[in-house]
Amino acid sequence: MRDPDRSDEPRRLPLSKRRAFVQRHTRLRDVDGVPGVRLHLADAVEPVWHAVEEALGIDGAPIPFWAFAWAGGLALARYVQEHPDEVAGRTVLDFATGSGLVAIVAAQAGADHVAAVDVDPFAEAAVALNARANHVHVAYSTRDLLDEPPPAVDVLLAADTWYEGPLAERVLPLLRAAVAQGSRVLVGDPGRKYLPPPADAGFVELAAWPVHTTTTLEDREIVEARVFALPPR
Ligand SMILES: C[S@@+](CC[C@H](N)C(=O)[O-])C[C@H]1O[C@@H](n2cnc3c(N)ncnc32)[C@H](O)[C@@H]1O
Repeated sequence: MRDPDRSDEPRRLPLSKRRAFVQRHTRLRDVDGVPGVRLHLADAVEPVWHAVEEALGIDGAPIPFWAFAWAGGLALARYVQEHPDEVAGRTVLDFATGSGLVAIVAAQAGADHVAAVDVDPFAEAAVALNARANHVHVAYSTRDLLDEPPPAVDVLLAADTWYEGPLAERVLPLLRAAVAQGSRVLVGDPGRKYLPPPADAGFVELAAWPVHTTTTLEDREIVEARVFALPPR
């Protein structure tokens, strides 16, 4: 029999409850390979994923991406730390921000204005907590940019967005539209299944590093991740 407390509609939790949820299910800690950044991160994916489903009253909630620093984000964050000139004094958008890692590094590197976008409502709470923990300001939006022209920013960052087919298909057109508008586009990726062949897509490799992740997310603790630019054609 159907549980009367469960419907197909996720419960809408106010931001204060989402913040409390993130704090309850994570620990504020250093991020491997990205010195000077602390994030609210979870130890294991299953317990927090299950808790999200309970909190929203649904089965099949998306993975709590926001509770982890993903390999693509670790690489792009390191690249931005090592090349602050890429963002300093510029307007920056971190697409699919998750925890907000790359947005926070951009703000620390001297970006003029940093916005982060993610469709997951818990990411909004995680980004708010993580920005505060790192003493930076990151504006946040849950707007789905895949449905509209990209905002006019100097730099668009996109880390670890090629992990599922339907999203991957729509990311490259967004990035190309941003390039056509004059944005500098930087991508971080650890060789996800749906990353388009870099040469075919027009990506130019800027850096490649082994990044330290967790076996709760990946099948290895060390993953090779690359950073690309998408220059105008
Ligand atoms: C693998 S995580 C990467 C998070 C972060 N960039 C990092 O590297 O740690 C992918 C993120 O994409 C977000 N996402 C999925 N579809 C999206 C969309 N249409 N617009 C914005 N974000 C989206 C997910 O919610 C998730 O936070």
